[in-house]
Amino acid sequence: MREQCCASCYDAAFDGALAQRELREYRRKGPGRASRAIAEALAREGAEGRTVLDIGGGVGAVHQQLLARGAASAIDVDASRPYLEAARSEAERTGVVDRVRFEHGDFVTLASGIEAADLVALDRVVCCYGDVERLVGLAAARTRHRLAITIPPDAWPVRAVIAVGNTWYRLTRNAYRAYAHSHQRVSAAAAAAGLEPAGPITAVGWWRLLVFERPIRTATASSE
Ligand SMILES: C[S@@+](CC[C@H](N)C(=O)[O-])C[C@H]1O[C@@H](n2cnc3c(N)ncnc32)[C@H](O)[C@@H]1O
Repeated sequence: MREQCCASCYDAAFDGALAQRELREYRRKGPGRASRAIAEALAREGAEGRTVLDIGGGVGAVHQQLLARGAASAIDVDASRPYLEAARSEAERTGVVDRVRFEHGDFVTLASGIEAADLVALDRVVCCYGDVERLVGLAAARTRHRLAITIPPDAWPVRAVIAVGNTWYRLTRNAYRAYAHSHQRVSAAAAAAGLEPAGPITAVGWWRLLVFERPIRTATASSE
């Protein structure tokens, strides 16, 4: 059976020191490349009035960008309380806190209580979670329009580096594990929830960007 990080291990892996460091960096330099690419892909046809679900939002880079582009509201679900607090403090600073709902916990566990959103983001999150089918599948099921995901490249050298990292975590009794899930499994989980690829997989620095969307059913198509 695949090892799975427990709920409390995300608080330890993404702790207060890391969250504050990342928040300082975010405030100094703005969103990183992967977060910018996700926001760009999600807002391709505009974000005005859209709802956002930012799963594992970290310090809030993706939902902050989409709210700045006119998205109506966002839900940030994060398994790390320190990251959620960092995102809340950024939302307070930028004056959007009343448009963001913050939920602490594993999205897979909470998903049944999380409503669908137009734009859904999994920015550098899938590589922190063992059960890719459930994480991506439940995110896709809650996507009304578009889902954007950044994950590591699908290549054996990446898997080898991650395996070395996981051996280190095991030896140091750290329950956190990283994963380089196959892109085919990610796409299959999105497809099983009715989403289609919205373009080819693209490189964003070291990360790979996968974008899916829900096909629009025309009256003719749905009556066939
Ligand atoms: C590497 S950080 C990325 C943060 C942010 N998305 C970014 O790209 O800057 C991974 C984040 O995903 C969260 N996370 C991982 N698995 C999760 C899950 N199943 N449910 C909710 N949050 C999760 C972690 O707590 C952490 O905040």
